Amino acid sequence: MNHHWTARVVSPRMPVPAEGARPAALLRGEFTARAAVRSARLRVTALGVYELELNGTTVGDHVLAPGWTSYRHRHRYQSFDVTPLVREGRNAWGAHLADGWYRGLLGFNGGTRDVYGERTGLLAELRLEYADGTAETVATGDGWRWSAGPVLAAGLYEGEEYDARRERAGFSEAGFDDSAWQPADVIDFDTAALFPADSPPVRRIEHLAPVAVTTSPSGRTVLDFGQNLVGRLRIRVRGEAGRTVTLRHAEVLEDGDLCTRPLRHAVATDRYVLRGDPAGEEWEPRFTFHGFRYADVEGWPGDLDPADVTAVVVHSDLRRTGWFTCSDASLNRLHENVVWGMRGNFVDVPTDCPQRDERLGWTGDVQVFAPTAAFLHDVRDFLRSWLRDLAADQGADERHVPPVFSPDIPVITPVPLPPGNPPMAGWCDAAVVVPWVLYERYGDTEVLRTQYPSMRAWVDAVDRLAGPDRIWGEGFQFGDWLDPTAPADDPGRAMTSSALVATAYFAHSARLLARTAEVLDDHDDATRYHTLADAVRGAFLARFHTGGGRLTEETQTAYALALCFRLLEDDAERAEAGRRLADLVAERGHRIGTGFLGTPLVCDALAGTGHVDTAYRLLTQRACPSWLYQVDMGATTVWERWDSMLPDGSVNPGEMTSFNHYALGAVADWMHRTVAGLAPAGPGYRRLLVRPRPGGGLTWARAEHETPYGRAGAGWSREGDRLRVDVVVPPDVTALVDLPGAEPVEAGPGRHTFYAPFPAAAR
Ligand code: BGC
Repeated sequence: MNHHWTARVVSPRMPVPAEGARPAALLRGEFTARAAVRSARLRVTALGVYELELNGTTVGDHVLAPGWTSYRHRHRYQSFDVTPLVREGRNAWGAHLADGWYRGLLGFNGGTRDVYGERTGLLAELRLEYADGTAETVATGDGWRWSAGPVLAAGLYEGEEYDARRERAGFSEAGFDDSAWQPADVIDFDTAALFPADSPPVRRIEHLAPVAVTTSPSGRTVLDFGQNLVGRLRIRVRGEAGRTVTLRHAEVLEDGDLCTRPLRHAVATDRYVLRGDPAGEEWEPRFTFHGFRYADVEGWPGDLDPADVTAVVVHSDLRRTGWFTCSDASLNRLHENVVWGMRGNFVDVPTDCPQRDERLGWTGDVQVFAPTAAFLHDVRDFLRSWLRDLAADQGADERHVPPVFSPDIPVITPVPLPPGNPPMAGWCDAAVVVPWVLYERYGDTEVLRTQYPSMRAWVDAVDRLAGPDRIWGEGFQFGDWLDPTAPADDPGRAMTSSALVATAYFAHSARLLARTAEVLDDHDDATRYHTLADAVRGAFLARFHTGGGRLTEETQTAYALALCFRLLEDDAERAEAGRRLADLVAERGHRIGTGFLGTPLVCDALAGTGHVDTAYRLLTQRACPSWLYQVDMGATTVWERWDSMLPDGSVNPGEMTSFNHYALGAVADWMHRTVAGLAPAGPGYRRLLVRPRPGGGLTWARAEHETPYGRAGAGWSREGDRLRVDVVVPPDVTALVDLPGAEPVEAGPGRHTFYAPFPAAAR
């Protein structure tokens, strides 16, 4: 049931500049607690982003609250117990309020402002229960006042400008003189879309000190934090009033200076104007975040002591649940890069990238990354919430096509697009795949039930688009986006045709939908969608299979899709397809030949058809393009392009060159399941599949995962000619242990050690 709101939205009538990021406002109100307070509960949200204070104390530790949802359909609010902060008698509360996602600049090609509205506002109410048993609600509404404050400009992409001389010290305390402040407008707002926060908030998670301070060849001061991260800087500075310290951010350097071209229109610059406090002053921007490893500092008074600058890592506060390590330091670094890439791109919404003028909830990216994400962190609530937005955005489309990014926003394109969401294979399929992953990894049938209409609507939409021949995807598709042959200026031009990719995804989603219907005991739908999946599979084979396991398109992605989505079912055909895939990989010198959609599958397709060695040769390849090429080039996160940095150290000239995109890191799921050997074999890891496949010259590997039933682990090591496998099975869980060259065995809860001959090919 929806909470009934007494509060009204209070909005500053603050002039906005014609261009650029806009100032944040201060808002304040006072109230009287007429008796001793037994409990005080706050509900709060904003049109924009807020930070609320009560009697001089900041409430909670959330960053960029209320976060980003598809506000028109779902607008999140936060609840806090503020009992210790409220006192009998006079009280005050107030907030900093900035544009955030609601009204700030969003999107590429120049982007759009005011996406959700032209006015920012604050909505808050306090439920006071008195010791005498009575209660009352105080709320935003008439009587609230606003003023300009120290934040002169704040934008997620642009950065924040803060003039400490304009702070209004004590503004959230009772008795503060607000006579020069303006009355806030009370504006209409439909509270029907409000809902209580259902996913973890964004917080300050970690602080990193610089590892180096250098003077660049052009004479600039550059800090290196040793890690590409997402967040912002916290500075401690002492100097004269009015001096400006400027902080610029970038992921990479070029010729020793920040390389900001990949940020496109994201200015990513913070400015702090000192108030001149002789005791020193400390500052961290509130209403922005940047993706960076390096920072350029200008205007610092005197010599910069590196201890005075800290990088504050900011992201959704997700519980870590998965770990992987092995005997190869480069693979460990790759895995670490995947973890950091996830952290930087789970800032309330699962984004493509955290640094340039984009940072959108691109569906294709999370579609391929969801299994990895669900292993590394508890993303159940996070992705459930995001899926609800996706379904809401999908519902707003006439043909029920999910958006290519959610929350959906208008985009500016060089050529006008037809109305409605563009149906994109592999992207819109997130509507089906992500709920299925949550079911597989958390045993969550509820998410299947909630998302079922969205899942089915997408498959039905594709069915209509494909028509009677069940083949679709001709015309523009993202396809196997950014495969290594895609030219710098044409990221969608891939080796594999869009029709092959789209039809394969059609079959895959139809099959997952049928299996979902089975889980939900909807027998009619199960039959109907299995029949559809069979028909699409038949159409795929008729069009793309030349017989005997060979495809019309001889690409790594084509074979990987046909094998992993079980479009080829016959054992002999699968064996031949696997052989052909291994040959194709060898023909490219064991370099990767896949883009966003083929990459998460190719190692599975190889290992699943007996070509474990070839899978390892791909995984451990160091020449470009490959995963370890990035590691060797010093990557500390996973890149968007296989060659975001070119072998000569220069930055890829493409328009889209991020150094922090998680999609190609989806291989980590294969590392967990096959290198270490820890996979779910039943929903929520109720049953484990321990099937390690040593190779790549590794001498040991280990993965652990906090399953819904407790900690599970699988690890192996080479002991001479023997393979030793150690398994931890949580309570109430059984494991199928399938070692190379041995008959599979069952294991119950507890710790077990198994031995098998160490595979000759893996030595
Ligand atoms: C994003 C991707 C996204 C793609 C769609 C890019 O601009 O950064 O990661 O999936 O567009 O093709």
